[in-house]
Amino acid sequence: MARKIDNLIEELDAWLRFHKQMGLESLPVTPGIKSFLGDSGTSQDDQDEKNIEIPESLEKLRKTIQNCKRCNLHKSRHNVVFGEGPPDARLMIIGEAPGKEEDLTGRPFVGASGQLLTKMLKAIEIDRKEVFITSILKCHPPGNRTPKADEIKSCMPFLMMQIKLIKPKLILALGTVAAHSLLKTNEGLKKLRGRLHYLNGIKLIVTYHPAYILRFAGAKQKALKAEAWNDLQLLQREYRKLLD
Ligand code: URA
Repeated sequence: MARKIDNLIEELDAWLRFHKQMGLESLPVTPGIKSFLGDSGTSQDDQDEKNIEIPESLEKLRKTIQNCKRCNLHKSRHNVVFGEGPPDARLMIIGEAPGKEEDLTGRPFVGASGQLLTKMLKAIEIDRKEVFITSILKCHPPGNRTPKADEIKSCMPFLMMQIKLIKPKLILALGTVAAHSLLKTNEGLKKLRGRLHYLNGIKLIVTYHPAYILRFAGAKQKALKAEAWNDLQLLQREYRKLLD
């Protein structure tokens, strides 16, 4: 049976408006809805990800990344910081890039911002050992500078493979670089935090990077912590649902 595209657009419009009126803010991404909406083409980033073969385990992926020379950061790094945590963690926490201490130890979030992250998790009764912690970049940018676009582009396929292998149910993105790289948006963090997003069907929450919170003192730091606390409570609610 042939259907006029204009009629279909009208029906789809009415259907989406009905769901919005019913209070829905997002729709589940099911295989059915994907095939209904069709393939909208492949971006260069998607293509890059497809061109790299996914190893069958996280350990194999770790070994592959150890020798990575996809960007210039390999010249100055001491260690690749792959990330750590259970290979089947329900929650993945994704930061920006390893700092100096992470570069020297090869472990994520071991410096001052890592200590604050551990406290943030403790405040919502999550043990850091339950969580897989990693960053957008796996190598330290010298002087702790912000990652460059080409470095993010080179490293993102590895993170996407980690997500595919770990299959978390929930992701916490720390800071602007993580939020923008994962959600492919340039919206400000203030607008992105405090609500649920979806990355390939996985719930994703955005909050401030602990290093950003630590950049300030006094009232400003207190205000940032109060905002982060709201995000953390949302994270706790979503995390608890996974344990039920
Ligand atoms: N900040 C990050 O984003 N990642 C780390 O591993 C450490 C600090």
